[in-house]
Amino acid sequence: MRLRDKVAIVTGAGSGFGAGIAKRFAQEGAGVVVADIGDAAGQRVAGEIATAGGKAVFVHADVTRSQDWASLVGATRSAFGRLDVVVNNAGWTHRNKPYLEVSEAEFDKVYAVNVKSVYLSALHAVPVFRAQGGGAFVNIASTAGVRPRPGLTVYNSSKGAVILMSRSMAGEFGADRIRVNCVNPVFSPETGLSADFAGGAVTEEAKKRFLATIPLGRFSTPLDVANACLYLASDEAAFISGVCIEVDGARSV
Ligand SMILES: NC(=O)c1ccc[n+]([C@@H]2O[C@H](COP(=O)([O-])OP(=O)(O)OC[C@H]3O[C@@H](n4cnc5c(N)ncnc54)[C@H](O)[C@@H]3O)[C@@H](O)[C@H]2O)c1
Repeated sequence: MRLRDKVAIVTGAGSGFGAGIAKRFAQEGAGVVVADIGDAAGQRVAGEIATAGGKAVFVHADVTRSQDWASLVGATRSAFGRLDVVVNNAGWTHRNKPYLEVSEAEFDKVYAVNVKSVYLSALHAVPVFRAQGGGAFVNIASTAGVRPRPGLTVYNSSKGAVILMSRSMAGEFGADRIRVNCVNPVFSPETGLSADFAGGAVTEEAKKRFLATIPLGRFSTPLDVANACLYLASDEAAFISGVCIEVDGARSV
């Protein structure tokens, strides 16, 4: 049990990578708070974890709202008595399209969900981590932040911001024994955002295009991403902070 006695918040855990992370963490003994704006999906994932013998609760939270983070951290401590790990996984993208066609509202939403959320998570979780003597953030960025594809410039840049914010946080909070790391997945057709990344339906043609850029010859899965997060959240990574693990089959080389 690699996360025995640890308590983790996983945002966007009602779907895709987040659901995979929440389930994998619970298998390794963590108490998991499934946070999402989608109540039915979040409750389903928490229920599946409980049915499998794990510990999970669902908490409705919009990661772009400071008040929701306050309630989320409060609910986590009420349910499990502590907080050790925050996985900032919730994310959003505009549909793949030319840069100049991205609306201002879409720009603001991408940056609110992907970037502001990391800042808000720190505002609310760092005081708890400090009081407990440490903690860990695992932020889901993307290969988009290091190897950008056309048509996703606003999204790509938001993930670049997540990567740099994470590294900078690692330096700033090291003295508090707070670790901050990133996981950079490559495209996964199994998750909710894939159609928008592809600019429409994930056709066989679109899959072929993405696959051609991944040397290991397959897409990422929620389990691939969850296993990298598990390592970074666990004590095995006690001296690892400020890094990004690419889970990308060598796409970024
Ligand atoms: N799917 C990919 O190919 C891919 C590749 C690299 C990185 N990522 C990143 O992985 C993360 C997870 O994405 P996914 O592909 O699993 O997508 P997904 O759409 O399957 O899951 C995202 C979840 O986040 C939730 N969410 C959205 N906005 C929210 C908000 N404001 N507050 C709380 N929850 C919110 C959604 O309800 C959903 O359950 C994102 O950060 C995404 O950018 C995805």
